[in-house]
Amino acid sequence: MNREGSTNVHSNQSSIHDDLARLVQKHMASTWQEPTPPHDREAMKEIIALLKAHKGPLILDSFCGTGMSTAKLASQQPKALVIGIDKSADRLRRHVHTQSRNYHLIRGNCEHIWAQMVSANVVCAQHYLLYPNPWPKKAHLKRRIHGHPSFPLLKQLGGAIEVRSNWKIYVDEFAAASQLLGLDTQVESLSATDPLTLFERKYAANSENLWVCRAALA
Ligand SMILES: C[S@@+](CC[C@H](N)C(=O)[O-])C[C@H]1O[C@@H](n2cnc3c(N)ncnc32)[C@H](O)[C@@H]1O
Repeated sequence: MNREGSTNVHSNQSSIHDDLARLVQKHMASTWQEPTPPHDREAMKEIIALLKAHKGPLILDSFCGTGMSTAKLASQQPKALVIGIDKSADRLRRHVHTQSRNYHLIRGNCEHIWAQMVSANVVCAQHYLLYPNPWPKKAHLKRRIHGHPSFPLLKQLGGAIEVRSNWKIYVDEFAAASQLLGLDTQVESLSATDPLTLFERKYAANSENLWVCRAALA
């Protein structure tokens, strides 16, 4: 329990990483070309079939874990197709099914699925990235979403992006990196009265401060 409502993330960073801007600019100057693994190609075929069968807007829930947020977003936006992606079969298996029919959980690597979506000219209306692994050690910058070579794909995928974390530095870094992509950003503290995800529920129960970055094209 954290009575002051501070973060429980331990890091050897006290502010935005010194290498962030250089790294993002390097990734913006090239195209990520890691070959797509076969299982991510299969996942994309599934997504294309879903998109063909649905005419409403697409909401992406990347790193969806057990898919609690995917189902919640689907019930809040019944006209949308909500696709949750996570690489963990175990987490996806633990999904608690709801009555909404407009959502689907797909097992795959988000980065490879984003790359295929961009190649297929798929755009999303909203893109949620909720409580991604923070990789809090300084040396792990490249493992964070905004430090990965696939990061510029997020702009091409379009839509209103929402990243949540219990580590303010992560959200600040995501905002700074998104600004380098030319997106407008806003960082705010978040009050999770009705938690969207299991991690959010856990953090809220521990009175941890939560943060959100919203990023979109102006
Ligand atoms: C901290 S959990 C958050 C899950 C959920 N969003 C929540 O808030 O409860 C991070 C999730 O990201 C998934 N993950 C990590 N790297 C991934 C990747 N490259 N592609 C897809 N999923 C990934 C993990 O399997 C895990 O379920």
